[in-house]
Parts: sequence; C-alpha cells; structure tokens
Amino acid sequence: MLILGIESSCDETAASVVKDCRTICSSVISTQIEEHKKYGGVVPEIASRRHCENILGVVKKALDDAQVSLSDLDGIAVTYAPGLIGALLVGVSFAKALAMSSGKPLIPVHHIAGHIATNYLTFPDLEPPYMCLVASGGHSHIIEVLSYTKFRVVGRTRDDAAGECFDKCARAMGFPYPGGVHVDKAAQSGDKTAFRLPHPTVAGNEFDFSFSGLKTAVINLLHNAEQKGTDVNKNDLSASLQHTIADILTDKTIRAAESLGYKKIALAGGVSANSGVRSTLSEACAKHGFEFYMPEKKLCGDNAAMIACQGSYNLLAGITADESLNAIATLSMEDI
Ligand code: KG4
Ligand code: ZN
Repeated sequence: MLILGIESSCDETAASVVKDCRTICSSVISTQIEEHKKYGGVVPEIASRRHCENILGVVKKALDDAQVSLSDLDGIAVTYAPGLIGALLVGVSFAKALAMSSGKPLIPVHHIAGHIATNYLTFPDLEPPYMCLVASGGHSHIIEVLSYTKFRVVGRTRDDAAGECFDKCARAMGFPYPGGVHVDKAAQSGDKTAFRLPHPTVAGNEFDFSFSGLKTAVINLLHNAEQKGTDVNKNDLSASLQHTIADILTDKTIRAAESLGYKKIALAGGVSANSGVRSTLSEACAKHGFEFYMPEKKLCGDNAAMIACQGSYNLLAGITADESLNAIATLSMEDI
C-alpha cells in the first residue's frame, strides 16, 4: 500500500510517500521559519501564501524521490484539522483536486493523530493500546491510544501548550522564533536548580495541564531583573524552565498511565525533540516499569510522513472523505 501524505497546518509545507503504513519512501519539508522569524511568530496570511506557492513543488518532489507516480498510489492523505485555517485550506484543496484527478481515495488526517503515528515509523513493532503524551506548539494532551484510529483524551492544557510556554519564555529571554530549541541548547550549560519555578495546580481533572502561570513567572522574573538592573543567567533560567516543564509533563503522564493500567507510554509532538523532556520521561518510565517510545528527532516536528502513516491506518479502517471535506481550525481528537 502506497499513501501520499500532505501537511500544511502551520508553517511547514510537507509531502511524503509511505509504503505499507510504516516505511518512509520519501519525505519533503519546506519550512517557512526564516520568514516568520522577523515577526517573532507565525503570520497566518504569509503562511497560507507560502503554502500556495510551495505545495505543487513539494508534492512533485515527494513523488519523484519515492520514484512513484500518482497512478501507483492507493490514497491521498491530508491534514484537515486542527491548525491555521488558511494554511490547512491550501493542503485540503490541493489534496481534493489530486484525489479527483487521479480517482484515488481522499483520506482525512487529524494533525495530532499524525504526531502520534511518528512512533509507528520509529518502532516497527509498536501497537495500540498505549498512553501517549503529545506536546506541541498548540497542544499538550495525554491521550489513550485505544486503536490505530480511536483516541480518548485523558488530560489537556487549560491555557498555553508546553511548546507555547517554551516559545514565549524564549522570546522574553531574547531568543529568536521558534524559541523552544534555543532554550534546549542554552539549558545544556545551565544549572536547573538555579531558579525555583512554580508547578501549577489545576482544579478538577488531575491530568489537565496549565502552563500560563509558569510562563508569567518567567516573564515577571526577567522584568524584575531588568527594573533592578541585574543580570539573569539565561542558561540557568533555560535549564530551570526546561526542567520544570519536563517534570510537569512527566509527572502527569506517569500518573495517568498508572491509574488507567497502561504498560506502554509514548511521546510525540514538536516538544518531543526537547532533550529534557526526552530524558525525564524516559527515566521515569524506566523507574516505574513502563515500556517507553519516542520518535527519532527528525520526525518530532511537523512532517508529512506522519500524515501518510496515519492516513494508511485510516484507509485500512475505512476512514475516507468525499468532495465536501473542509478544513477545521479546532477539532478534538475525540470528534474524529
Ligand atoms: O508539533 P510542532 O512542530 O508544531 C505544532 O503542531 O505546533 O511543534 C512546534 C513546537 C514549538 O513550540 C517549538 O518551539 C517546539 O515544538 N520545539 C521544542 C524543541 N523543538 C521544537 N521545544 C523545546 N525544545 C526543543 N528542542
Ligand atoms: Zn505539529
């Protein structure tokens, strides 16, 4: 089975061909980071325009690299939710036209389900059920992966996502967009015990997250230092921030997996590239006796191989779309 995946939910235009669910034949990613950097974050209209300019070339290259033509494909998978609406619409419209002209099935893929699927590409033997922590720029979810296509959200963020917290604190420290990776680098030479940052408590669901208090604490700390004219060691602050975020994510994920009786824990989403999150969750899993899975680093950020992989499982489960498929900016994993 050969599936073409298309991803355009944020600032990466990507296309990939995946064979038999888990083998990547090609993966092309055209990133717009350099352009959005000037503005300190993604400018939605610019993102849509760049997707429109890039998508044909990216898809052509993905087919060429895989040495396949449209007629060889068994389906065309596309991210239809969630994300920036104008950005998603480019991928969805393109995939619909391609499906119509080739007569191939059109397969809708939820972006978060795509991130979860990165672990199938990394671990050929991983099978549901398991618990997955998905942390990205827009989402922080603890999810029960009940099957390849059925999900239950156990915990979600009430406000900022973990990636957003990394990025906003990074910006306040003067790092360029997207800041998460710069915090990670700076943290390598910092002291994680230098600053005591708050671990927020969340009333109600014990597995929900809240990162806005932590973000505000870091921003206030920087402002206070500026007003007093004192220097803040950014390596130490980065290490303390990374340590705190990794602790919060790890603690809730382990407790959720224990309380629901899971044996396997997976990590996914852009923040799964973070060295602190990777090592903290991995060590906690070893300590508590869980099998642990995390994607190889090149699959952590947005890509289309994950969309093609999840699209393959959707097709096997009979999940396809007709010509009325639309992009949706906000859509829970449970409503797919
Ligand atoms: O999944 P993703 O590529 O896009 C969304 O779906 O949102 O996630 C992007 C997020 C950004 O917030 C980025 O700063 C964060 O992942 N990120 C990291 C690292 N690499 C990417 N955060 C911390 N440390 C990293 N090494
Ligand atoms: Zn993503």
